[in-house]
Amino acid sequence: MGNSLSIENVSAGYGSVTVLSDVSVHAGDGETVVLLGTNGNGKTTLMRCITGQVVPSRGTIVAEIDGERHNLIGLSTEEIVDLGISLVPEGRRLFPRLTVEENLTLGAYRQSARERIAASMDFCFEVFPRLKERRTQLAGSMSGGEQQMLALARALMASPKILLIDEPSVGLAPILVARMIDKIAELKTALGLTVMMAEQNFEQAARIANRGYVLVHGQVAFAADSVDDLRNSDVVRRLYLGVG
Ligand SMILES: Nc1ncnc2c1ncn2[C@@H]1O[C@H](COP(=O)(O)OP(=O)(O)OP(=O)(O)O)[C@@H](O)[C@H]1O
Ligand SMILES: [Mg+2]
Repeated sequence: MGNSLSIENVSAGYGSVTVLSDVSVHAGDGETVVLLGTNGNGKTTLMRCITGQVVPSRGTIVAEIDGERHNLIGLSTEEIVDLGISLVPEGRRLFPRLTVEENLTLGAYRQSARERIAASMDFCFEVFPRLKERRTQLAGSMSGGEQQMLALARALMASPKILLIDEPSVGLAPILVARMIDKIAELKTALGLTVMMAEQNFEQAARIANRGYVLVHGQVAFAADSVDDLRNSDVVRRLYLGVG
């Protein structure tokens, strides 16, 4: 049964400032979709609309979870997490003074996830052995790469069907970016996830994405049915590949 996400004609902003205008993006069951866009073009705002942190002024956001449709607008962030939609937020947002294990436990704060907490933690430690070694270390004292692993693992503790990832590569050395992208692909396959990822590192995102969109000034400037279409688009060549 399918897990998909459909954002249709969404406009949203902060106070009187409009950030997103008439944005429509879709992630089909089992797809990895990348949202490209340079700084300040609305990627994080779109993630916040999906997770109920920003309420759109117009448009619809519908998630299909195990084949059942849910209208997300008007739901709280907690209700959206309960449905099976987790966000790895921009800047990780870990609790720096809590340990690895405590941060993971907080990822399973909802009742439904708490019942599976031991199994979820075992899974995270299997996927990220480094986190197991450092289970009692304070999150704030870990390296940037370790913190990004922890942020990803924490999102998995809620047993998501749809995983939203906001710029996983920020602040990581190139080799770690590649490893993080590989890990996302591995998890997607192992857990049958549908993934929507905001990213500015086009080449790395392109390795695992099926399709993508380019946001410019809060609008979809280009919607591509394949990574090749993205790569060949004028807007990607201009903004990401330094051509033209
Ligand atoms: N809480 C807020 N209040 C007011 N304006 C905001 C708020 N958050 C973001 N904005 C504005 O909304 C616009 C889009 O920001 P957003 O964070 O969605 O962009 P982004 O594509 O994620 O950028 P980046 O790549 O730098 O993370 C920016 O002009 C930003 O200043
Ligand atoms: Mg952002």
